[in-house]
Amino acid sequence: VSEHHVDHRGGQTRIIVDPGASSDLASYAALAAPDHRPVAIIDANVARLYPDLLPSVARLIVPAGEAHKSRDSWAALTDHLLEMECDRQTLIIAIGGGVTTDLAGFVAATFLRGVPWIAVPTTTLGMCDAAIGGKTGVDTASGKNLVGAFHQPRAVIADPNFLATLPDAVYRDGLAESVKHAAIFDEDDFAWLDAQVDAILARDPEVLAELVAASCQIKATMVTEDEHESGIRAILNAGHTIGHALEHASDYLIGHGQAVAFGLIEEAVIGESMGVTATGTAEALGTLLAKFGFDTTMPPSVDESRYRAALRSDKKNRNGKVRAVLLRRIGAVARQQDGSWTWEIVAR
Ligand SMILES: NC(=O)c1ccc[n+]([C@@H]2O[C@H](COP(=O)([O-])OP(=O)(O)OC[C@H]3O[C@@H](n4cnc5c(N)ncnc54)[C@H](O)[C@@H]3O)[C@@H](O)[C@H]2O)c1
Ligand SMILES: [Zn+2]
Repeated sequence: VSEHHVDHRGGQTRIIVDPGASSDLASYAALAAPDHRPVAIIDANVARLYPDLLPSVARLIVPAGEAHKSRDSWAALTDHLLEMECDRQTLIIAIGGGVTTDLAGFVAATFLRGVPWIAVPTTTLGMCDAAIGGKTGVDTASGKNLVGAFHQPRAVIADPNFLATLPDAVYRDGLAESVKHAAIFDEDDFAWLDAQVDAILARDPEVLAELVAASCQIKATMVTEDEHESGIRAILNAGHTIGHALEHASDYLIGHGQAVAFGLIEEAVIGESMGVTATGTAEALGTLLAKFGFDTTMPPSVDESRYRAALRSDKKNRNGKVRAVLLRRIGAVARQQDGSWTWEIVAR
């Protein structure tokens, strides 16, 4: 009943959002890549919690955690595939959070110069954000996501039932990107989120299916219009100029979602003071984000000077000026007259 199909890239990537879909992964795999032999690359916690997933499929386990989104993991996985004599008829099935789908997607992008893959996100962030859009890659000592490739999955199968076993902090942190998607693109979705806060926090699977489908739809629309990130896809960076600076200044002790939540609010405050963002936008964001349990003020532990230094080194900056995506109001981003999606801002 609650199966959602999200149109993405003219049907080249199928996105299915359906509580229970994970019991049907083998048929989705056969549909997505007929005549291919599936190999699952699975997050260790997911493999432990869901031992019955894809019983007859070879599985490679990725240890949990961002530290394993690495070139070492990529090397180990590709070596295993070679030892297993996998060929170009291999289909990679990535099952886990953003760490696993980024890593396994990059394996798929590079193994034998590219084999098809499908993404089975199992976290809020994975379903609402990371698994959509075809960005794959690994971290390096110099920074996150610096080595990677664009490689679209054939299908994204999101089963909200996976979210039941997520630790609370991980579950909530991913919701910030959903709020962001609604804030940049869909006022009705924003109002819907506000009305459904209790059901969302209670992890009602039907409500989660709607939340994930709405979020995927917005991200998929951006990506379809701008697959390689030259234009409108930039608006997905709303909240991220301030958010990244905060994460950096906290040595990544602050979760990404918490950082983005604060970034959305703070960028709206700045936008309002510039007369770009409608009055009341920051307050609306703060009210909703607080209901989801996010802190809406700058954490006292963050070092001001490191925060400012991190802002100055943001990759969106031009001519040494800090730039950010600014909302016009809830549900719409402000575009400059020259077509640019970012604005020069002065941090408070
Ligand atoms: N490719 C993109 O466009 C994109 C976008 C946003 C984020 N990302 C990437 O996503 C990554 C973060 O993803 P994440 O937040 O999903 O983190 P994650 O993959 O590290 O998962 C978080 C934790 O949850 C556990 N877990 C996963 N599913 C579970 C389940 N169903 N039940 C219980 N535990 C479960 C994992 O083992 C891990 O400990 C970052 O590396 C980020 O760069 C990528
Ligand atoms: Zn983000």
